[in-house]
Amino acid sequence: MEGDKSYEHHQQVNCGCGLSELFDLTGKIAIVTGASRGLGRAIAIGLAKAGANLVVTDVLDVREAIEEVQRTGREAVGLKVDVTNKKDVEEMAKQTINKFGRIDILVNNAGIYRSSTAESMSEGDWDKVVDVNLKGEFLCAQEVGRQMIRQREGKIVNIASVAGQFASPQSAAYNASKAGVILLTKTLAVEWAKHNIQVNSICPGVFATPMTEGLMEDKSFLNTVRSDVPMARAGRPDEIVGAVIFLASKASSYVTGHALVVDGGWTASL
Ligand SMILES: NC(=O)c1ccc[n+]([C@@H]2O[C@H](COP(=O)([O-])OP(=O)(O)OC[C@H]3O[C@@H](n4cnc5c(N)ncnc54)[C@H](O)[C@@H]3O)[C@@H](O)[C@H]2O)c1
Repeated sequence: MEGDKSYEHHQQVNCGCGLSELFDLTGKIAIVTGASRGLGRAIAIGLAKAGANLVVTDVLDVREAIEEVQRTGREAVGLKVDVTNKKDVEEMAKQTINKFGRIDILVNNAGIYRSSTAESMSEGDWDKVVDVNLKGEFLCAQEVGRQMIRQREGKIVNIASVAGQFASPQSAAYNASKAGVILLTKTLAVEWAKHNIQVNSICPGVFATPMTEGLMEDKSFLNTVRSDVPMARAGRPDEIVGAVIFLASKASSYVTGHALVVDGGWTASL
């Protein structure tokens, strides 16, 4: 290996971490958007259990989510943030830095779904879905990314969907927005690799959350889940947490631009 620069570099930066250290987030500062309920709340609690202090944000009330995070023994502050509003997003980054001095992890989770055939989808629904799901993730990544560039490190996890990888019907805006998130993620990963910022996305399959509440009560939808998803069930919100911790921790130090599917085998069977 004499003269092999990449090997030398590897030797210099090798942290020699033990297994628990690889996934340890003690003292890290994490922002989660859309964290009042559903996957976002589970992610905030999961990050806190791994050691992070949390900034819990949503357009909805976040008090319950904050109390749950605080029960883990970590610090949590709540902010009302509409991810489509640039001023809110700027304030989110500013207040996090004022309170904690830095931002280590951003989980871009806020998202909405509107069902409609393509021919009857209103322009308003299209704009709303693309605004929240795609522009919202960009605005948050941009603002937090600027701070991470100054810090020379950071982890961004964008919640996309398997709907960004294959076309589920009556979901043109949602599918397009989530496909956009996957390529936005790759673009940021490529641009910010030199700043030591890793940017990855997660593609959940079907999870039981308030977003899918109506569907979970629909027998034919449940039958489709049982027949089409190899694990024959929807995911529980806590089952997204391991993937987020992996992508937010040292364990993924050489992983960037990836779209990690968490779907009970659904896309593997397509
Ligand atoms: N539940 C699923 O089956 C599933 C599958 C694939 C992807 N996802 C994605 O996971 C993420 C979380 O979904 P969920 O199922 O927990 O949904 P949810 O509706 O239960 O929670 C979404 C949260 O985002 C918040 N939000 C909506 N618009 C916002 C805005 N403009 N600014 C800030 N917050 C806003 C909501 O208030 C809510 O608290 C979304 O991006 C969703 O598209 C969910």
